[in-house]
Amino acid sequence: MVPTFNESANVPELMARLRATLAGRDWEVVFVDDDSPDGTANLVRRLAQEDRRIRCVQRLGRRGLSSACIEGMLASSSPVIAVMDADLQHDETLLPAMWDALSDPALDLVVGSRYVEGGSVGAWAASRHRASQWATRLGRVFVPTALRDPMSGFFLMRRRAFESCLPRLSGVGFKLLLDLVASSPRPLKVRELPYRFRERHAGESKLDEQVVWDYLMLLLDKRVGRWIPVRFLAFAGIGLLGVGVHMGALTVAYRGLGLDFMVAQGAATAVAMVSNYAINNQITYRDRRRRGWRWLTGLLSFAAVCSVGAAANVGVADFLFGRDGRWVPAALAGIVVSAVWNYAASAFFTWGTGSRRPATHQRPEPA
Ligand code: GDD
Ligand code: MN
Repeated sequence: MVPTFNESANVPELMARLRATLAGRDWEVVFVDDDSPDGTANLVRRLAQEDRRIRCVQRLGRRGLSSACIEGMLASSSPVIAVMDADLQHDETLLPAMWDALSDPALDLVVGSRYVEGGSVGAWAASRHRASQWATRLGRVFVPTALRDPMSGFFLMRRRAFESCLPRLSGVGFKLLLDLVASSPRPLKVRELPYRFRERHAGESKLDEQVVWDYLMLLLDKRVGRWIPVRFLAFAGIGLLGVGVHMGALTVAYRGLGLDFMVAQGAATAVAMVSNYAINNQITYRDRRRRGWRWLTGLLSFAAVCSVGAAANVGVADFLFGRDGRWVPAALAGIVVSAVWNYAASAFFTWGTGSRRPATHQRPEPA
């Protein structure tokens, strides 16, 4: 299983090396490409015409390394599935040894590891090395594991074990191995084999701030996701921040500009709503970010959702207040109701399935 995004300059070389290293074994390779602009999917299909062991799954309107890998693994019927990057940073000559290690029936998973004796990160800059070590340490806090390299993107797994993880997989971001380890209903029996992480053969890394954010979301999801969606946590946190924004804007408008209180309060509400929308669009729904014209229409739908939320807030609070006159619990209940409504309704209308046609309809299928 090889996830690709703009890897056309690497795919032919990867295939040549896979053929050499897996000669005499029974294998197939599934590329899952997220509609790369450089035409990786077409290239893979061209190669597949000469070699039926090659397949291409092309996803439209979506991105994501982990989710691509999961779908690719599901597209194969093989009892044993390896995941590796297309850029030749993972040492393909380790594959036969990884595969042979699985002849031990007690093992579920064999990991190509940079952090066991004999492995290394190769020519990484000191800063990238440090960042990776911190991310690994943080990961350990959330997902206890004996793995030395739980962040590896290079591993081989028994299909049975993979399937048992499926119901709990988050599928967020870059770190599928960590996700798998945390999602398994019983501790996976693992073995790590060392390899030296190589330089990227051609093209560019896709690691950016989004990956860092996705990683934090993954860790949170593994910890609390069973009870509460992490997007809701982000949404609620940003809402709390919005209270600060509101008070700041109100101070400026009421005290600074000397506006009438009601006008100032109205303006502060508008400012807080726009800022909540903008921040949620940037962070909570980064993966479905609305841009350009859609940013504005999204703001309108968010405003509509929040107006209903505000009405529900006042209605619920007033009802509870009328029953026993306790104003603090009444107000808090109103806030909780409107937060849940705003979250659920904006997830659907502003950023979710209610707001757009299915991804596969966004672009005509290439001929
Ligand atoms: N389908 C798809 N969709 N593939 C993607 C996407 C995506 O959104 N983003 C990246 N890929 C593919 C790349 O084309 C490449 O084949 C592979 O996933 C890894 O992407 P890189 O951009 O090269 O990531 P990296 O080298 O920084 O990190 C890799 O190595 C680390 C160490 O093993 C990843 O595998 C990390 O998960 C891993 O920790
Ligand atoms: Mn890479």
